[in-house]
Amino acid sequence: MTNARWADDGGDAAVVARVAAAIDRRGPVTLCLPGGNTPRSIFAALAGLRLPWDKVTIMPGDERVVPHDHPASNVGALRAAFGATGATIEPLSLSPPVPRFGFVWLGIGDDGHVASLFPSANPDPTAPVGVIAVVPDPLPPEAPYPRRTLTLAALANADEVIVVARGAAKRAVLDAALAGADLPVARLFGLASVTLYWQP
Ligand code: 6PG
Repeated sequence: MTNARWADDGGDAAVVARVAAAIDRRGPVTLCLPGGNTPRSIFAALAGLRLPWDKVTIMPGDERVVPHDHPASNVGALRAAFGATGATIEPLSLSPPVPRFGFVWLGIGDDGHVASLFPSANPDPTAPVGVIAVVPDPLPPEAPYPRRTLTLAALANADEVIVVARGAAKRAVLDAALAGADLPVARLFGLASVTLYWQP
């Protein structure tokens, strides 16, 4: 039995509407947002909306260990996308506390990783809420850096959790996870109710 389900509409506008609704209704809210390329255009659409951004705190779900002004920095990308909205954007720190999130938005790798919880790290679903340092093995060619990442429990410690994925390869890995493959994303399914936003 998995806690994951496909969104009726997996498109960018549906993702924007889902996040905007969470911001609109919750008052102060902390969002956990992903790195990578998939979200960039969706971030731009979301940041253009009139929302109570002054009540919003944004954190990356994981971070590449590079300077924040490095092109590979996730908090740098979040500052570029949302800095003008007035939201508070916080880097991912190894020191506690880790908040409960109003909303967690994750990407997924073709290997089934979420955040920087790669299969080689064998992410532990029983590990406590926190941020851990990991060195992916192998280093992902698109971002060959040591990482910091929220644990599975930290990602699951949220009112809403979504995964946004695009393309056939990511559909296949999500289908595999839903069919029982022991992938990091499947381990998250065991901890939280996750809505999957996919389109080709
Ligand atoms: C990162 C991410 C990572 C990303 C997936 C998907 O820091 O790279 O947080 O988990 O979301 O690798 O990345 P794409 O959207 O670029 O395919």
